[in-house]
Amino acid sequence: MDPVRFPATTVASVTDYDAYADKYDELDGGRTADVFGFPDLRRGLLQQASGAVLEVGIGTGLNLPYYNPRNISKLAAIDKSRGMLQQASKRLQETQFAAIAELQEGLAESLPFATDSFDTTVDTFSLCVYANPLRALQEMARVTRPGGQCDL
Ligand SMILES: C[S@@+](CC[C@H](N)C(=O)[O-])C[C@H]1O[C@@H](n2cnc3c(N)ncnc32)[C@H](O)[C@@H]1O
Repeated sequence: MDPVRFPATTVASVTDYDAYADKYDELDGGRTADVFGFPDLRRGLLQQASGAVLEVGIGTGLNLPYYNPRNISKLAAIDKSRGMLQQASKRLQETQFAAIAELQEGLAESLPFATDSFDTTVDTFSLCVYANPLRALQEMARVTRPGGQCDL
């Protein structure tokens, strides 16, 4: 089997997602991801999402193909990086969520949403890069309604 090669920019600029937004999918959505079984992990998690859904740190939108459109009434997503959001926006057009989705720039640590406004809050592969992951988790709990679910 051929060795898995990471794009040269990946590790060096891990805090600057704008700089490698167009290469990100080679890492978390390409053959490396397949080797680690990420597609199955994403599918298993995202199929549980339902109702009004918030995805925090959406990145390039690699989770979008795994949501079940029949279960989702609204999809909001937030990310700190404009470059990553631009990639997510392109991917969104290939899904059934374009009409019910809203992407916006913002921080996980200060979510611009009302308390109890989502049935499901999703975050994948992002907690480890947030400046303040505890604050981000507190914010996710705040915007998720009582009895809702946080899928991490
Ligand atoms: C490793 S990527 C994961 C992307 C996506 N969740 C996935 O599963 O492929 C981390 C993402 O978190 C975003 N991010 C980093 N710090 C953030 C913060 N404080 N608030 C919101 N997004 C942030 C980055 O811009 C990047 O898109």
